[in-house]
Amino acid sequence: MKRYSIKIAGTQEAAFACEEGDTLLGGALRSSQGFPYECNSGGCGSCQFELVEGELKERWAEAPGLSPRARARGRRLACQCEPLTDCAIKVVLKDDAVPVLAPLRQTLNFLGARPLTPDMSEFCFRTEAADFLPGQYAMLGLPGVEGARAYSMGNLPNGEGLWNFVIKRVPGGRGTAVLFDSLTPGDQVAMDGPYGNSYLRTGNDRDIVCIAGGSGLSPVLSILRAAVKQPELSGRRLHLFYGGRGPEDICVAQIVEDDPVLRERIELHTAISDETAPGAEQWTGNRGFVHELVRSTLGERIPTFDYYFCGPPPMTDAVHRMLLLDYKVPAQQLHFDRFF
Ligand SMILES: Cc1cc2nc3c(=O)[nH]c(=O)nc-3n(C[C@H](O)[C@H](O)[C@H](O)COP(=O)(O)OP(=O)(O)OC[C@H]3O[C@@H](n4cnc5c(N)ncnc54)[C@H](O)[C@@H]3O)c2cc1C
Ligand code: FES
Repeated sequence: MKRYSIKIAGTQEAAFACEEGDTLLGGALRSSQGFPYECNSGGCGSCQFELVEGELKERWAEAPGLSPRARARGRRLACQCEPLTDCAIKVVLKDDAVPVLAPLRQTLNFLGARPLTPDMSEFCFRTEAADFLPGQYAMLGLPGVEGARAYSMGNLPNGEGLWNFVIKRVPGGRGTAVLFDSLTPGDQVAMDGPYGNSYLRTGNDRDIVCIAGGSGLSPVLSILRAAVKQPELSGRRLHLFYGGRGPEDICVAQIVEDDPVLRERIELHTAISDETAPGAEQWTGNRGFVHELVRSTLGERIPTFDYYFCGPPPMTDAVHRMLLLDYKVPAQQLHFDRFF
C-alpha cells in the first residue's frame, strides 16, 4: 500500500502520512492530527483546506459543503479528497480537534434490525471491538452505494464488538434503501470510525441537556446511557428533549420506560410538530418545535447547562441559534452533530 506524505505549508515538522485510497481527513486523524471537521460527509465545509502542491482525487466533486466561490479560490474538502502524490496543504490544525481515539477501518457483520417507529429502526452489527466515545459516529460503506454514510452509535462502547445505530429511512435515499430493503443478517459492511467531536464530557459540574429530533436520538441515547453509569455524574440532572412529527415518532418514551436506570434518572420532555400526522388529534402532550419546548421548560436557567444536540440541520440550527444568540450560552457548553 502506497503512503503519501502530507506537509502543512508554513510549518517545519507538522506532516502526516496518508495511505493510498484514504481521505486527507482520515489520514490526518489516524495520525492524531487536529484537522478541523464536523460531518465527514461533504455537507458542512468545516474541513476546508487549500492545496499548495501535489495532486488529489475528489470523491464527490459536487459536495455541497464547498461553495463555487470557495472552490474557485482553490479550497477543497479534506473529507472528500484522496492524495494521488505527496502534497503540501494550507490548514490551521486545532488542539481540540486531536482525536481521543484514532479512526480504524474494519468490517462489520450485520446481525439484524429492530423497528422502533414506522420509519426508524435500530440496526445491530458486530466486529472485533467497539471502541468509541458516547456520542460519536461511524462511516458505513454500503454495498452498491457511492460514498460512505455517517451513522451515530446508540449503544455504549463494549468488549463484545457490538455497534448499534438508530437509523431513519429517508424517502428516495440510496443508503437507507439498502439498509432497510436489502441488507440481510450475515451481510458485511465496511466501517470506518469512530469520528465526531460531540461526545460526552464529564469534567465540569453542569447539569446536562440532550436535544434530538428524528434519528438524532441515536447519539443522545449513547450519551445518556453513559452518563447514568458515570459515578462522577451521579449528582447531575439529565434532561432529554425529543421532537417528532407525530405521536408515532415518539418511540423514546418506550425506550426510557423499558430501562429502569434511564427511567429513574432522565427527565423526558417530548413534543410533536405536525398537526396532520397520524394520531396528532388525540395527542395530549406538547406541540411545536423542540427548541421552543426547551425555551418554555428551562427558561432563564438555559445558560447553566451543558448541551448535546443532534438531528436534521433545520432543527440543530434552530437550537444553536437560540442557545447562542438568545441566551448567550458559551460555545464550549455546546456539542452538536448536524445530520447532513
Ligand atoms: C455526523 C452525522 C451523523 C449521522 N447520524 C445518523 C444516525 O445516527 N441515524 C440516521 O438515520 N442518520 C444519520 N445521519 C444521516 C445519514 O448519514 C444519511 O445522510 C441519511 O441516512 C440519508 O442517507 P441516504 O443514503 O438514504 O440518502 P441520500 O440522499 O442518498 O444521501 C444522503 C447523504 O449521503 C452523502 N452522499 C450523497 N452522495 C454522495 C456521494 N456521491 N459521495 C459521498 N457522499 C454522498 C451526503 O452526506 C448526503 O447528505 C448522520 C449524518 C451525519 C453527517
Ligand atoms: S467535515 Fe468535510 S464537509 Fe463536513
